[in-house]
Amino acid sequence: MQLHVADHPLVRHKITVLRDKNTTSPIFRQLVEELVALLAYEATRHIRVEDHRVETPLTSTVGTRLADPRPLIVPILRAGLGMLEGLMRVVPSAEVGFLGLKRDEETLEAITYANRLPEDLTGRQVFILDPMLATGGSLVAAIDYVLERGATDVTCVCLLAAPEGIDHVRSRVGDRAEVSVVVACVDERLNEHGYIVPGLGDAGDRLYGLV
Ligand code: PRP
Ligand code: URA
Repeated sequence: MQLHVADHPLVRHKITVLRDKNTTSPIFRQLVEELVALLAYEATRHIRVEDHRVETPLTSTVGTRLADPRPLIVPILRAGLGMLEGLMRVVPSAEVGFLGLKRDEETLEAITYANRLPEDLTGRQVFILDPMLATGGSLVAAIDYVLERGATDVTCVCLLAAPEGIDHVRSRVGDRAEVSVVVACVDERLNEHGYIVPGLGDAGDRLYGLV
């Protein structure tokens, strides 16, 4: 697994506003989108492309276009949905699949409750979106899900990660170079309830309110 931690003052600024418990849901949602747009630059560094010839007003030249099949973006419901628009804005031709995962707050195990994804992902490049990498249970479940269906290239985009969660993903994924995690910030630790500290609280609730 390859890990990339963003190092950019604008990312740090926006993450700080997200952490603030007084930040309202509309501002929180907007900042999540903006952060994903910033992380997208790194997350899409190895997006698959092919040569493409174009005629400019002056001459003919070979440029680049996204290769087929198109990338598949998979936001993890609920909170990952808040990141979808930010990535779609920079990769508008991507396809989108949905995976619903809910962490059991007693056992901290991830439970899959919904999926709307192609059964066959052979050779597909997949971008998984989830703002919080806490114990890593949810992200491991999502990575396993797409790898089992044949995806060969998986990039996870997260906002906050706990060191424990990163270690868990690494221990499950090993050195597979085709899995990478791009994260805005690595926090200090998990607390006894499996929450990221200092963190930002429950990302789903802060985006969409209490269920
Ligand atoms: C949150 C978050 C991740 C998960 C992270 O979702 O969006 O999916 O917890 O925790 P983990 O790394 O310990 O698995 P949650 O289960 O609260 O669901 P929600 O998005 O519907 O709020
Ligand atoms: N899920 C969240 O939304 N926040 C955390 O800190 C941990 C899991």
